[in-house]
Amino acid sequence: MLARPLVEAEADALVVGLHAEAKALPTGLAALDRRAEGQLKAVLDAEKFQAKVGQVTHVHTAGRSGAARVIPAPLVIIVGLGEGKDVTLEIVRRAAASGLRRARDLGARTVAVDLLGERLPARQRAHAVVEGAILGTYTFDRYKREKTDKAVEELRVLAPDSRVARDVAEGARSGEVFARATWFARDLVNAPANEAHPAELARVAAEVAKEGRLRLRVYERAECQKMGMGAFLGVAAGSQQPPKFIHLAYTPAGRTRKRVAVIGKGITFDAGGLDLKTAESMLRMKDDMSGAAAVLGIMRALPQLQAPVEVHGIIAATENMPSGSAIRPGDVLRAMNGTTIEVGNTDAEGRLTLADALCYANTRVKPEEIIDLATLTGACVVALGPLCSGLFASDQDLADRLLAAAAQAGERVWQLPLIDEYREHLKSEVADLNNVGPRGGGAITAGLFLKEFAGSTPWAHLDIAGPAFSEKDLALAPKGGTGVAVRTILTYLTT
Ligand code: BES
Ligand code: ZN
Ligand code: ZN
Repeated sequence: MLARPLVEAEADALVVGLHAEAKALPTGLAALDRRAEGQLKAVLDAEKFQAKVGQVTHVHTAGRSGAARVIPAPLVIIVGLGEGKDVTLEIVRRAAASGLRRARDLGARTVAVDLLGERLPARQRAHAVVEGAILGTYTFDRYKREKTDKAVEELRVLAPDSRVARDVAEGARSGEVFARATWFARDLVNAPANEAHPAELARVAAEVAKEGRLRLRVYERAECQKMGMGAFLGVAAGSQQPPKFIHLAYTPAGRTRKRVAVIGKGITFDAGGLDLKTAESMLRMKDDMSGAAAVLGIMRALPQLQAPVEVHGIIAATENMPSGSAIRPGDVLRAMNGTTIEVGNTDAEGRLTLADALCYANTRVKPEEIIDLATLTGACVVALGPLCSGLFASDQDLADRLLAAAAQAGERVWQLPLIDEYREHLKSEVADLNNVGPRGGGAITAGLFLKEFAGSTPWAHLDIAGPAFSEKDLALAPKGGTGVAVRTILTYLTT
């Protein structure tokens, strides 16, 4: 957060942005180039660098023939930003990510980054630079004998002048908290199901509570039984792992704007139950606790951000396994609010666990809003693909605010309709509800099922089944758990 000209920036690597329309180098970069005796311009010309979005190049600026280095940074990395008028925060995030990856891969430990994205507000630019830089350099090698020793240990953002230094410092700080909360969620999703079981989620919740001085309550099976959570415990019946119902609460130090419950689907492994999944579709199912992981990341970040809202993080954690004690297709379960549910398919387990979590939130927390995050349906992946979450809401105002938060955070969310007439798809011959409907519109049916348990509280549901886990490297995340929804919800709760 130093207000220093680029030429003086001391670090192993310096990351600077370049706009596509720039005929000559902009002032800062031109001064740097002069000091580096024209080496930057020479490389950019030789490579015909067009500064398109996503383009990156680098220059080793060592002094000639053993002479003293011409500028303090021995490595200058130039990232393309496209046309200045089109620059968005997402372009800044991605440019910072690719610049930092290049710096890391070339062995840099300390990196100074220019405040990219000229026309945007300084605070948001700094947030996006740091967030992108950290998100883009995530790695997960916990279980590898060979660990990468390449890591950036210090990141500095250069403020163009001292008048914005404070905005830059604040933005950089929130960007770091958002990105680290996302890393935290990614680590939990990437951990295999034999380690990240319900008891482990409860242990992590305790750690988060201790660190951030949050209140924590973990209910064991017997207590859940007393509360009448027959739907949640039905799912847990087939597993050797004891279920845990986790409730974390954050209260701001000052005035509280509102009380919100954030519920995360916490199926630590979804084998499908007796309606067993195929080998192929089971492979990824350690990610079925991505909603829970997001909730834990969010709860960890709230005290660090001094968020002005009271937030209750709720997770009904269990596996969904087949066994002699598992629920059977056709079984009838009774949820906490008395609603009876016929199990049409044991693989539609997420909604069963969420039903009791919603009832619990409504009766025990009485929040003004409920948001749930869930890898709920394959149908949502069919509808929106792997990069976009589906949003369902009983309250359009809440939906609009979440859509705005997602846009600001740079996460793709698309609203889908809760079509009233489809409610009849959930009719059961023997119980109040069936947990599945016919084939078409599966993401909507799942949403309608949850709505039955949200009561009159304004409620929104994010189906993150697509973007929770990526099969390929993305601009801001490598293959694996993405930590999706952490940044959207943090944006929502802090702005
Ligand atoms: N966890 C899955 C949803 C899922 C599928 C997430 C693919 C990510 C990728 C969920 O519990 C499930 O199995 N849903 C079923 C519901 C069906 C039985 C009505 C599905 O989507 O097939
Ligand atoms: Zn399932
Ligand atoms: Zn599931």
